[in-house]
Amino acid sequence: MPPPTSPAHVVTVALGDRSYDVHVGAGVRARLNSMMPPGARRAAVITQAGVGWTVDSGLDQSVFTVADGEEAKSLAEVERLCRAMSRAGFTRSDVIVAVGGGVVTDLAGFVAAVYHRGIRYISVATTLLAQVDAAIGGKTGVNLPEGKNLVGAFWQPHAVLCDTEMLTTLPPRELRSGQGELAKYHFLGGDDLDALDLDERIAAAVRIKADVVAADEREGGRRAILNYGHTLAHAIETAGRYDLRHGEAVAVGLVYAAEVALRLGRIDSERVAAHRRVVSGYGLPDRLPAVLDDDELLALFGRDKKAVDGVTFVLDSDRGVEPVVGVPEKILREALAAIR
Ligand code: GLY
Repeated sequence: MPPPTSPAHVVTVALGDRSYDVHVGAGVRARLNSMMPPGARRAAVITQAGVGWTVDSGLDQSVFTVADGEEAKSLAEVERLCRAMSRAGFTRSDVIVAVGGGVVTDLAGFVAAVYHRGIRYISVATTLLAQVDAAIGGKTGVNLPEGKNLVGAFWQPHAVLCDTEMLTTLPPRELRSGQGELAKYHFLGGDDLDALDLDERIAAAVRIKADVVAADEREGGRRAILNYGHTLAHAIETAGRYDLRHGEAVAVGLVYAAEVALRLGRIDSERVAAHRRVVSGYGLPDRLPAVLDDDELLALFGRDKKAVDGVTFVLDSDRGVEPVVGVPEKILREALAAIR
């Protein structure tokens, strides 16, 4: 039996008639059955065995368990799920409930986007990373052998439940990885995050993300700021020779972005120190693993999905964080030296 729901934070992602609420707090998963979309008769619960939490949608529900880990984010798994849902008779008026972290959210959201040309889905986000990032904003998709998230769709959920009680069973390293994404929000307007407890902090991060998504749902411009710290992070992950979780790589990437901004005269050294303080405050790394060399990282920066015209970095300034096109290679190299 889920615990009684404590007072929760409710943040609206304002997208006109596709607006939805994100509920943050201990026990909010108990709200699931009151959130079912009108007309839904059945729920397809998509989850991974390692998630370790079950939910009660209050509808006739079938559970589809996908492979553990990132392997689940494949077109083969999309086909398998769509075929299983089809055999089980799911229709366009039914609902998918994604229960898990970023992998499940991305995969189940994409299945929702394409099954019968689009059905409604609700995310029950069980990891910190999903609660402050992946589950919010409607980016869904899967990987190809050629790269991560290369096939996807913008498809907004019907509601999101960020049950902070679910974080109590997360392995410590998984929690730390989510803190890397949380650290990012300190520089996206969340200057007061330090003063907040975890539930409030998650809700504040969700509020920042909700505002950005509402302003630029399809990443025509401003939404790119949510990738603060991610250019180096993606390069580290793609190089793949060092065991850093996504949020840990983002933490190093935040400090790197600050060092780049410093060398472009956009911020001062006190602001760089603030980046290091926030990252270390979460117990996250602020240095680059020695096994990754500069030439390889620079080559990977150019291959980042966000590299539209030369190397684009999201960088801090007095005006806030913004995308900057064409950062000179010399600056990129100097800043790499500063995080060795
Ligand atoms: N994770 C970045 C975004 O949702 O835009």
